[in-house]
Amino acid sequence: MNDIAHELRFVPLTADDAPVLAAWLRLTTESADDVPLSAAPPCAADLAGSVRFAPPGTALVGEAAYRDGELIGAIRLVLPDGAPVAVVDQLLVDPALRRQGVGTALAVRARELAAAHGRTALVADLVQALPGGPDRDGGPAAFAAAVGGAPAAGPEGIHQWLDLDRHDPLADGVPEVPAGYRLVTWGTITPDRFAVAVSELGQTLGSSDPQSWDTSPEAIRTSHVRRYERMRVGRGRRAYHAGVVHEETGELAGFTSVSKTTGNPEHALQGMTVVGRDHRGHRLGRLLKLANLAHVREYEPSVRLIETANADDNHPMIALNEAMGFVPQERLVSWEAPVS
Ligand code: ACO
Repeated sequence: MNDIAHELRFVPLTADDAPVLAAWLRLTTESADDVPLSAAPPCAADLAGSVRFAPPGTALVGEAAYRDGELIGAIRLVLPDGAPVAVVDQLLVDPALRRQGVGTALAVRARELAAAHGRTALVADLVQALPGGPDRDGGPAAFAAAVGGAPAAGPEGIHQWLDLDRHDPLADGVPEVPAGYRLVTWGTITPDRFAVAVSELGQTLGSSDPQSWDTSPEAIRTSHVRRYERMRVGRGRRAYHAGVVHEETGELAGFTSVSKTTGNPEHALQGMTVVGRDHRGHRLGRLLKLANLAHVREYEPSVRLIETANADDNHPMIALNEAMGFVPQERLVSWEAPVS
């Protein structure tokens, strides 16, 4: 292997450095077919916005690797607040220049960046084929092993796709709302009256007690959902929500969220669906997802492909997804490597 590391110059990826940002967008877009995530195609507005707007509770650090004035690789790390890890969000080499040691040099630089931010481990989700599922490139896992990584313990993710051209989950319409509940829908910005409930339900997966929620104006202003919306709007994403209100208490009993980028009219992402612990067993999860799908299709008639991912031990949600026509495509396996 050439000692290519000495030929590389690393340049921080910042929202204000237009030439670096443009070259990075080009590399990411051109490499999309090589990144074996089979995710929606990259959206320029989403990518450019992501440099300025990190997910709440995280910081992003990115660098572009230049050789002879050309951008040939990129690294992005997500740094969750207060955690010892750096999540490898991107570690990408120009497809024409692979197997020459550039990836190894990027991994060295990723470790330096992680160490500089006080992190002790690098973690990444890598795609692997499901038994009987579509083939997946084993290259990234071989690379991760070659640079000192290993699969981590814990649940794996299952990445699923729903192709509305092949299966219409709304063929029988939206199910009836059970007695005692009322359906509500909203768009990208969650109304004040639901902001704390959506944040609490989402962050505790429905296990916290609504009586303990702080619904003051300050709590609404600083809620998780408000911080999340800032990121979504900054990245040009639109979101669609459905919720069920428990009529007796007026509480939001559950909600679901679908979002999409500006640049991909056909693709949407099924995000969080949560039903509060006191409201389970009424098939509200299924109702929420189907009602929200009808909501999405009303405003985004071109949407055809919806992706989602769940922990492989979340059997109720995977069963619900399969009943809607989602098809498991691949496993998302967590890998870990020490920083030093
Ligand atoms: N198949 C098998 N082994 C591989 C492969 C592959 N496709 N790619 C790298 N390796 C292993 C080999 O052991 C290789 O050493 P060798 O060439 O002497 O046999 C070693 O990794 C080092 O390879 P590099 O040349 O340093 O890596 P490269 O510059 O080709 O970059 C990378 C590898 C980053 C995976 C590149 O293929 C790429 O950009 N892929 C798309 C993006 C991606 O999947 N990134 C995820 C990376 S894993 C992570 O993020 C932790």
